[in-house]
Amino acid sequence: MAKVEPEMSMDPWIYITELKDLPQNTPRLFHPKGLGMILLHRGDDVYALSNRCPHMGCALASGTLEGDVIRCPCHDWAFDVRTGELVMSKEVKLRMFHTKKEDGKIFVRLED
Ligand code: FES
Repeated sequence: MAKVEPEMSMDPWIYITELKDLPQNTPRLFHPKGLGMILLHRGDDVYALSNRCPHMGCALASGTLEGDVIRCPCHDWAFDVRTGELVMSKEVKLRMFHTKKEDGKIFVRLED
C-alpha cells in the first residue's frame, strides 16, 4: 500500500497580525521565522522593514518616526519607510519586505 504524504504548503506569505491591531503611525516589532521586522501602518499602506539598521545594527524599532522617515536611535540615520532608502544617500537601503492585506489580516513575504 502506497504511503500518503501530507501536502506541503508552498505559500510564501506568512501571517503576522490583524490590521486592526496595527495602529496608524506606530512601528511594531515582529519576528517572523526569527527575523526582526517592523510593521508600520500609514494611511492605507502597511510597510515591513528590517529592524536592523544597516549602519551598525541598532534596533530601529526604538527609533523615532517623523512622517515617512524613521530615525535610528543610535546615530540618527534616517530612512524613508516607503522605500527603505537612507535619506542622505539613497544607495544605502534598509531591507524591505512585501506585504499584503487579506480579510483584515497582514501577511509578509520574506523572499523577493
Ligand atoms: S546603528 Fe543606526 S545609525 Fe548607527
